[in-house]
Amino acid sequence: MKLNLEVFLAMKIVTEIKEWQFLRKKINSQTIGFIPTMGNLHAGHLSLCERSQQENALTVVSIFINPTQFNQAQDFQSYPRTLEQDKQLLADKKIDYVLIPNAAAMYPENFEIQVDETLLSQKLEGECRPGHFKGMLSVVTKLLCLVQADAAYFGEKDFQQLLLIKKMVAALFIPTKIIACETIRTAEGLALSSRNSRLNQQQKEKAIQFANILANKHYSLAEVKQKLTALNISIDYIAEEWQRRLGAVWIDDVRLIDNIPI
Ligand code: PAJ
Repeated sequence: MKLNLEVFLAMKIVTEIKEWQFLRKKINSQTIGFIPTMGNLHAGHLSLCERSQQENALTVVSIFINPTQFNQAQDFQSYPRTLEQDKQLLADKKIDYVLIPNAAAMYPENFEIQVDETLLSQKLEGECRPGHFKGMLSVVTKLLCLVQADAAYFGEKDFQQLLLIKKMVAALFIPTKIIACETIRTAEGLALSSRNSRLNQQQKEKAIQFANILANKHYSLAEVKQKLTALNISIDYIAEEWQRRLGAVWIDDVRLIDNIPI
């Protein structure tokens, strides 16, 4: 207990945007690495933190469940919220700053200013989740402007998101380097995801099968689709783009995405 308290003291938790802006002004010569998250942290998020800590003097993590990127109210409501556990994990990792802003402070303009992309964002995830990428790009722009990091770390797990963020940062001349990090998986091959916590044991077995069928390069796209359908897994898309094979499926009411390099 004493140990936990000590590491917690080294980590600064900031909930007020104005306070963060004040603190940020005082950081001049140290490099900053930034990891935006929606919380419910797992080893995938923590791998991005470790990479940032290796490459920067200070590491900032944000936890903000962004309402505008959920295209279904139910998905937003059931998104796992584990703030106390998240703070402990970040304290154990010796993260320097954790930003936990509230929605009213993040959207003072009442959603009247948004950032959008009109080409890449229309396919695959964008087609299945209308408005998702607009909400995501808008919040990532805000977070990058707030943190003014040297580098920001994103997972290849959300490959289309990563491509869009790179494109947006280039288009808006945002001076933060975007670093892509490999997908972290369980020993059975399932990509770690906050949504996995909503799966029961039987559903988890199916999720593992999804990951392994998608990753099997001996299978054509048609074979992947046929094998998933035979398992009663409902498919949003299975496709090859950007030198990746990407898939989005439903295991009952839980939507999972994954991708591998080809
Ligand atoms: P979230 O799903 O919390 O993910 C935060 C970051 O962790 C993203 O860059 C994501 O790609 C990465 N990540 C998730 N699972 C991973 C895994 N198994 N291996 C490696 N990295 C993984 O993505 C978002 O939040 C939001 O869209 C956000 C960018 C924070 C904007 O709201």
